[in-house]
Amino acid sequence: MANIKYFKRHRMELALRHPLPRWELPAGFAWLAWEDSLLDMHAEVKFASFQNETDSLVFPCLGSRNGCRDLMAAIRYRPDFCPEATWLLSGPDGFAGTVQGLFDENRFGGIQNLGVVPEYRGLGLGRALLLRAIEGFHSVGVRRAFLEVTATNAAAVHTYRAVGFRSIKTIYRAVELPHPDTARVGL
Ligand SMILES: CC(C)(COP(=O)(O)OP(=O)(O)OC[C@H]1O[C@@H](n2cnc3c(N)ncnc32)[C@H](O)[C@@H]1OP(=O)(O)O)[C@@H](O)C(=O)NCCC(=O)NCCS
Repeated sequence: MANIKYFKRHRMELALRHPLPRWELPAGFAWLAWEDSLLDMHAEVKFASFQNETDSLVFPCLGSRNGCRDLMAAIRYRPDFCPEATWLLSGPDGFAGTVQGLFDENRFGGIQNLGVVPEYRGLGLGRALLLRAIEGFHSVGVRRAFLEVTATNAAAVHTYRAVGFRSIKTIYRAVELPHPDTARVGL
């Protein structure tokens, strides 16, 4: 029998107004703007950030290296890819976080796959990546940003709310889980 689970998700939106809240990276961290040579590194950081997280059940591609590589390539080659809202963050001992941007049909800015690797969480980097992506959207004339987040993802929901995103719609995503034992991600 199919093991279907419905994941509650919020669509959140934010009107983009300057000035954005200020942020500063901790010592030892640095921004890398988008370039094609970084595609594999974005995929690797995405995998490190999402493996064993609930979103790797909601979007199984996030739970494997190849899936993250395919997803990253698909994002890069979409006509609505926004390089200005796509950032990689390096840390003292390797890469720390990633975020990508896409436009929708209204030219709203879609924040995609915000992730910080577990060893660098809680330092303000998720917030910094989010603000950097928003700033990138703003620099190319985007007036409104949006994203989707799984309702139980407290860290992500908090990060988005703290920057001013508000839920405008609830969506349920049906996912066929591979087997009933989902304990490893604490469902
Ligand atoms: C969501 C994520 C990017 C946050 O990154 P982070 O660098 O740890 O977040 P920050 O340190 O910038 O914290 C941002 C805010 O969230 C809060 N926060 C962080 N972890 C939290 C948690 N587990 N529960 C509740 N709030 C939390 C912080 O206190 C901070 O709030 P404040 O500005 O009011 O002080 C990170 O947890 C992650 O990569 N998770 C796995 C991938 C994922 O689910 N991404 C989101 C996809 S929608």
